[in-house]
Amino acid sequence: MTFTGPSSAPGGSPLVASALTKVYGSAQTATHALAGVNLTVHPGESLAIMGPSGSGKTTLLHVLAGIITPTSGSVSWRGEDVTTLSEARRTVLRRQDFGFVFQSGQLLPELPAVENAALPLMLAGTARTEATAVAARWLAHLGLAGMEQRRPGELSGGQAQRVAIARALVGSPGVVFADEPTGALDQSTGAEVLDVLTRATRDTGAALVVVTHDAGVARHCTRTVTMRDGRISGEFFAPEAQPAPGAAQQPVASTAVGQPAPLPPAPPAAPYDAATQAAMAAHPAAGYAPGSAAPAAPSAPSQESAR
Ligand SMILES: Nc1ncnc2c1ncn2[C@@H]1O[C@H](COP(=O)(O)OP(=O)(O)O)[C@@H](O)[C@H]1O
Ligand SMILES: [Mg+2]
Repeated sequence: MTFTGPSSAPGGSPLVASALTKVYGSAQTATHALAGVNLTVHPGESLAIMGPSGSGKTTLLHVLAGIITPTSGSVSWRGEDVTTLSEARRTVLRRQDFGFVFQSGQLLPELPAVENAALPLMLAGTARTEATAVAARWLAHLGLAGMEQRRPGELSGGQAQRVAIARALVGSPGVVFADEPTGALDQSTGAEVLDVLTRATRDTGAALVVVTHDAGVARHCTRTVTMRDGRISGEFFAPEAQPAPGAAQQPVASTAVGQPAPLPPAPPAAPYDAATQAAMAAHPAAGYAPGSAAPAAPSAPSQESAR
């Protein structure tokens, strides 16, 4: 079975994983980290991957993002099979098409926030002045105006993750991958960071794939899949994202690439309906909790972000 979300994006191609397996080690020591995963990630959707520790979430994320190659199966992205590309081509792909947010410790301690955020642009050859100007607009967009010159050691955990989110988005990626991005944060800071991550990603039109075992994450995403023993074991849609037969698909706030749009109005807090909650609670990977209202959106940038 292929798990696929609402086909929501105006244009753009999905990321399609087919029959993925990943075996670590060999013979007696073999670990089947992925045991046949089919998954389609549509442009503009936010997908949470949940499941117990060791169920294969990080392995799946890394295979989808071209960080590691699977034992078998394919990952199709914009007409290419990511799994068979050369390492050099995959590096370019990761730099140009994908953005990454990890748990913590991903910022370079000696660089100010604005240069940390500008790094992908500078690596891609954008002049430093222009790259840092774009990065500064992203920092402001994410609520960090005035903190551009702070080193990571002078930022709170939540602020550092916002810088990491700015860095993931500054290069206008097609897909943002996040692995336990709130794992090192307290619950309310984590919820704020997730809100920023999902909104800001959605505003660019990029897809978001976020691995987590944070109980509140599903609420922020349009779709959640659960993993168990290297397989996808369940799938839930946020109520407002559920594709009804014949219904219009979920609209996505999409703008020209590289231009953060004014943030749309905050969606109403949308707890899952009773039947969905019951299904979630009964699931082996349960732990979902309809959460509190989302925090206020950061203010939109006054200038467009050019690249
Ligand atoms: N580099 C590796 N070498 C050997 N085994 C690994 C490696 N990475 C992960 N594994 C194993 O693969 C399984 C899935 O791991 P992982 O994808 O990290 O799960 P999760 O992110 O859900 O905790 C686990 O049994 C883990 O021990
Ligand atoms: Mg993991």
